[in-house]
Amino acid sequence: MDDILKAQPISEGIYCIHADIQTDDLFEGIWPIPDGVSLNTYIVKGEKIALIDLVREWTDAPKQLEDALNSIGLDFSSIDYLILNHLEPDHSGWLRQFREKNPHVVIFSTAKGIALVKSFFKIDTGLQAVKDEDTLDLGKGKVLRFYETPNVHWPETMVTWEPVSGCLFSCDAFGSFGALGDKVFDDEFTGEEHVYFEKECLRYYANIVSSFSSFVEKAIQKLAGLDIKCVAPSHGIVWRKNPYTIIERYQKYASYAKGPAEKEIAVIWGSMYGNTKAGLDALIRGIEAEGALYSIHQIPDENVSYALASAYKSSAIVLAMPTYEYAMFPPMAYVLDIFRRKHIYGKNVLRIGSWGWVGGARKEYETAIAALKWNNLEMFEWAGYPSADDFATLEEKGRKLAKLVKS
Ligand code: FEO
Repeated sequence: MDDILKAQPISEGIYCIHADIQTDDLFEGIWPIPDGVSLNTYIVKGEKIALIDLVREWTDAPKQLEDALNSIGLDFSSIDYLILNHLEPDHSGWLRQFREKNPHVVIFSTAKGIALVKSFFKIDTGLQAVKDEDTLDLGKGKVLRFYETPNVHWPETMVTWEPVSGCLFSCDAFGSFGALGDKVFDDEFTGEEHVYFEKECLRYYANIVSSFSSFVEKAIQKLAGLDIKCVAPSHGIVWRKNPYTIIERYQKYASYAKGPAEKEIAVIWGSMYGNTKAGLDALIRGIEAEGALYSIHQIPDENVSYALASAYKSSAIVLAMPTYEYAMFPPMAYVLDIFRRKHIYGKNVLRIGSWGWVGGARKEYETAIAALKWNNLEMFEWAGYPSADDFATLEEKGRKLAKLVKS
């Protein structure tokens, strides 16, 4: 990979510029990004030059942006218009510094976006609020059109459309975790790399977007009339060969929010001394005997981000946890809290677990899941290490759950 990531031409006068972030930081302060994330921005050049979306001061993102601008003969002062599709700081955090380097730039966003520019950055001049289907003529045949797509991801979100190239600059929508390196376009990645990005796309969707799935569906419907030739998100792959691959993928992910999804089981477990794990192993023998697909996530050893992605995608969930001091095993309580916040609804769920001197997890569990629209299968608890009867019951429960999922 070159040291400097160059601007990548998409179409005449249109470029993708991306900053690759490789860091131990958590995305949004919560989600691990072991393989990084890209912050994509775009240049559209007519007589005037627009930059679509910005970066935050995160590793060396502003320097990467500057180097890529230089690679096509531009610098920060060349930019006439800054289009902010979305004000979450990963796309806007460097705004004050950018404005200091270019005091003449005019900033375009929705009215709610402009309000956030004022509150986050204390910038009050050179702002232009746009409404649904407003246009911005850059000259030389380049016209940008804006479509409000609220809550994909925040209420102020919009997308930007350039009709001649058929480029949709979609910000968070159609994005993914994972740094890009020196390739950005879908046709440049190998099949293996696409498998990796599809996994990271699901995790990104489940972690960041899943709560807003009804708005994703509305946005896709709203944009259905456009002849999209390139999907250019602000994280991850730019889709110029098969743009509808990522649109259809998002449509499928959004549909998971309504209830049972793929015929798979997400097994999520925590165990203090191995007694819950021993029972879980029997349950898994039952699942395997019936040949159902399952994923497995140990909590807290693995970050909840991965369990969330699997749970979101699967039609069934197994939650295995012991009683801990009269209540749920605390890391699993956190998992349930995340599931509630991320609207992991409509799943077939089986809880199992061991208790020591007294139970108690059940009571707290029932309270925790009250708001989740789950089909709760009859849970099973046992004292200490599972007995022969307990093992038989657990294996049978695994078989039944597998049959339910496959049906
Ligand atoms: Fe990539 Fe909602 O910010």
